[in-house]
Amino acid sequence: MVIPENSRIVIFGASGDLTYRKLIPALYHLFENNQMPSSFAILGASRTEYSDDAYRQKLKNSLTEQEQTDPQLLGAFCEHLYYQTLNTSDVDDYTQLKRRLGQLDRHYNFKRQNTLFYLATPPSLYDIIPGCLAAHKLNDVTNGWKRLIIEKPFGYDLRSAKSLDIEIQKHFKEQQIYRIDHYLGKETVQNLLVFRFANGIFEPLWNRNFIDYVEITGAEFLGVEERGGYYDNSGAVRDMFQNHLLQVLAMVAMEPPAAINADAIRNEVSNVLNCLEPLTDECLKNDLVLGQYTESMVKGQLLKSYRNEHGVPKDSRTETYVALKMFIETPRWQGIPFYVRSGKRLPTRVTEVVIHLKRTPHPVFAQNAPGNKLIIRIQPDEGILMNFGLKEPGAGFRAKSVSMNFHYDSLENIQMLTAYERLLLDALNGDATLFARTDAVEACWEFVQPILNYKQAPQSLFGYACGTWGPKEADALLRQDGRNWRFPCKNLTNTDYCEL
Ligand code: BG6
Repeated sequence: MVIPENSRIVIFGASGDLTYRKLIPALYHLFENNQMPSSFAILGASRTEYSDDAYRQKLKNSLTEQEQTDPQLLGAFCEHLYYQTLNTSDVDDYTQLKRRLGQLDRHYNFKRQNTLFYLATPPSLYDIIPGCLAAHKLNDVTNGWKRLIIEKPFGYDLRSAKSLDIEIQKHFKEQQIYRIDHYLGKETVQNLLVFRFANGIFEPLWNRNFIDYVEITGAEFLGVEERGGYYDNSGAVRDMFQNHLLQVLAMVAMEPPAAINADAIRNEVSNVLNCLEPLTDECLKNDLVLGQYTESMVKGQLLKSYRNEHGVPKDSRTETYVALKMFIETPRWQGIPFYVRSGKRLPTRVTEVVIHLKRTPHPVFAQNAPGNKLIIRIQPDEGILMNFGLKEPGAGFRAKSVSMNFHYDSLENIQMLTAYERLLLDALNGDATLFARTDAVEACWEFVQPILNYKQAPQSLFGYACGTWGPKEADALLRQDGRNWRFPCKNLTNTDYCEL
């Protein structure tokens, strides 16, 4: 276990939801597990006025509401928290921030000014904060590293992502920029690489000769909750597909990296994302399904339609569901379809990758044998399931589908870090492997740009009732190829139960 160097962590957007729900709990858990630097200060910066004590109390209350905490440990953790009122877009205000950081240096006797700046703010501030920091030389690396963590969305489309990069890179080098995609922080997503490349039974099969097609599902039971205002400008393509699902796809499809380090792994991620077959008008017409949820009774509860969600216009045409059949133009994947879908208000929350293997050529045995499937469950109930045919006991040679199962929770005494814990720890240690590099982000935008253009024109948007698996047109997408989506729920009456 590598313990990070002593450092200062500055969180912009310190009074926002992300800070309360994800960042502070993650930092607290790292502290609890002795993974924080021996000396560190967390300085929250935001427009709302708080004293240090009031801010500490607020975070204490929020943490104890979310989980069980040890009062003594929590007290010790909170002593590292500080707060600075700041108008983030006013460059003059950063004088206060600089002064405050100087005070912390003296208090902690920091020899080096290592600093992690976390931009947990609305995206409109992403290109303002780096310039303000630079104006006060807070990006100066002569005595300590300076790193910038940027939350998604990184840009709104290809053009804005490029110009955001240009702006940030005026003040911070690419190696200092850590673009978060929290899916990369998930243990099961990282495991895709180990599973593929460390196992002699799977590595040789992972290509077009043995794989028939691949499914990637990112389903959520929740709707847009209180985020209707944000979501309506985003939609499923920008919110989930362009980033999380394409990153998962890259892990499934990339070539083996030459080494295990940030450059080698991110080179391969970028290569495969640059090989996604561009979407033509024909593909958009035939291989893309966009949907929006409509009102429905689910488990005795009336779930409102997307258009009736808070902050969503009554005539919104924003998609809450996307399904796409796509191809990768590499020798490994030539001609193999990847069916990728994501949606809100589906029957359950599940993210999984399903690898469908080709059937054997034997005319007698293959006839009634079920195809082999490898199901990699990213969440929940993380694990891997392999499906294969077994002789049905009794007369004849009929095959029956059975499975072998592995669940992560069967690993004893293993501590799984949450995505934010892992990513914060990596950023403090200067390991950018699990952060999206600029070329990968741009490749993703480039790939989805035709969908974004298509969304603007009058297009087909299909309704689907809350609690169903999306529009029936998405089923047709696979059926026309003689296939079906895997059905991860045991049954629809008990929709919380995902079968692995
Ligand atoms: C976020 C999206 O990036 O990911 C949300 O903005 C989505 O809309 C969330 O709900 C899903 O993350 P997870 O880890 O719960 O699958």
